[in-house]
Amino acid sequence: MTAPKKLFIKTYGCQMNVYDSERMAEELGAQGYSETKSVEDADMILLNTCHIREKAAEKVYSELGRFKKLKAAKPDLKIGVAGCVAQAEGQEIMRRQPLVDLVVGPQSYHRLPEMEAKARSGEKVLDTDFPEEDKFEKLKRRPKAPRGPSAFLTVQEGCDKFCAFCVVPYTRGAEVSRPVDRILTEARDLVERGVREITLLGQNVNAYHGAGPQGDMTLAQLIWELDKVDGLERIRFTTSHPNDMMDDLIEAHATCKKLMPYLHLPVQAGSDRILKRMNRSHTAESYLRLLERIRAARPDILISGDFIVGFPEETEADFQATLDLVEEVKYGTAYSFKYSTRPGTPAAERPQVDPAEADDRLQRLQALLTRQQREIQDSMVGREVGVLFEKPGREAGQMLGKSDYLHAVHVADCGRKVGDLARVRIVESRTNSLAGELID
Ligand code: 5AD
Ligand code: SF4
Repeated sequence: MTAPKKLFIKTYGCQMNVYDSERMAEELGAQGYSETKSVEDADMILLNTCHIREKAAEKVYSELGRFKKLKAAKPDLKIGVAGCVAQAEGQEIMRRQPLVDLVVGPQSYHRLPEMEAKARSGEKVLDTDFPEEDKFEKLKRRPKAPRGPSAFLTVQEGCDKFCAFCVVPYTRGAEVSRPVDRILTEARDLVERGVREITLLGQNVNAYHGAGPQGDMTLAQLIWELDKVDGLERIRFTTSHPNDMMDDLIEAHATCKKLMPYLHLPVQAGSDRILKRMNRSHTAESYLRLLERIRAARPDILISGDFIVGFPEETEADFQATLDLVEEVKYGTAYSFKYSTRPGTPAAERPQVDPAEADDRLQRLQALLTRQQREIQDSMVGREVGVLFEKPGREAGQMLGKSDYLHAVHVADCGRKVGDLARVRIVESRTNSLAGELID
């Protein structure tokens, strides 16, 4: 018997890439690959890449350069590039880095086994199609191996919004929702394997409109179907667009016990002039009014967001409007980025902001967001929260988990195991986590 082949996958970027990497590992698992954490042991290296900002894309080329020695020492080693850089720059990757054997876009990875076989026989293979067939239908069911208590599940993919800065509509394609029954089957499989929390993923997840038994269902209706799955205790979803935040979803935050009080709702900027140029089709005011309605439904909900500073033509006054909006919202967490020019997107052609000015704005925004994050984390002290334990902590007897609000929480002398859900009183707020004690 030959030893099983070893696969090393490195994942960049968003949670959907994390999900995709798991699926790719399963596809190649059926070809006799087992995963390794050591790149030196690998018979195949896959980089699952992100194209959202220039820095993310460039990392791929520097990482590939480092594999030269490995490949020289082990000529049978196969190197693949997957994900959004593969989609956007497939041909260029092959040209710039001859050691790459295989390039696979995010819509074609169900074809990986055939591609791997071709690569093994010495061919260079590239597949960045948007195929007619549904990759999810073709993917193997997840094997029954046990796994951690929290999982991602892609329910929607792609985007039709065309924000002027964003590559997603080009790399992930048009918005597609998976049918409800497939999602429920996958969720039940996950629960059988020990999962207690599922995060539903989509670039525009709240625009979900998958086929159900009686016509299309909304995200809220899908959540209610998942609510009935025994053993599943927590439901989350990400990322949402303000324009698709429908009444039934807001209502679900008020009434669905399994739906966690956390919402990632990117606004990107606080100036209406810039929002218009970004093609966001909402205003700062409409976003604030929407949050009022969401908070009326679920007063304790923790709001998270994404921001871009230094978008083309952003003035200091525009940037001030972003700071004003942040002051008003009070974000529990947030991700902020300096605008990065993406070739092929509408904003790439416009007058750019001075990079030093953009850096300065990013620092000021991050200082404010960090302060808010800290205030909200500190305000958890004394409160009772649910915690799902995910792994043992560094100290003996300590367990580490996530609160309902997605804060990291550790409990000393815990006496609970991975996958347990407990009520915890928060006693201390530390740098990046909370300390808690079990209640009863
Ligand atoms: N430059 C900087 N940030 C970007 N994002 C998307 N495209 C760009 C870009 N060209 C950010 C947005 C989005 C998050 C996933 O990445 O804030 O919500
Ligand atoms: Fe990109 Fe805008 Fe679509 Fe989000 S909504 S994926 S930022 S185009």
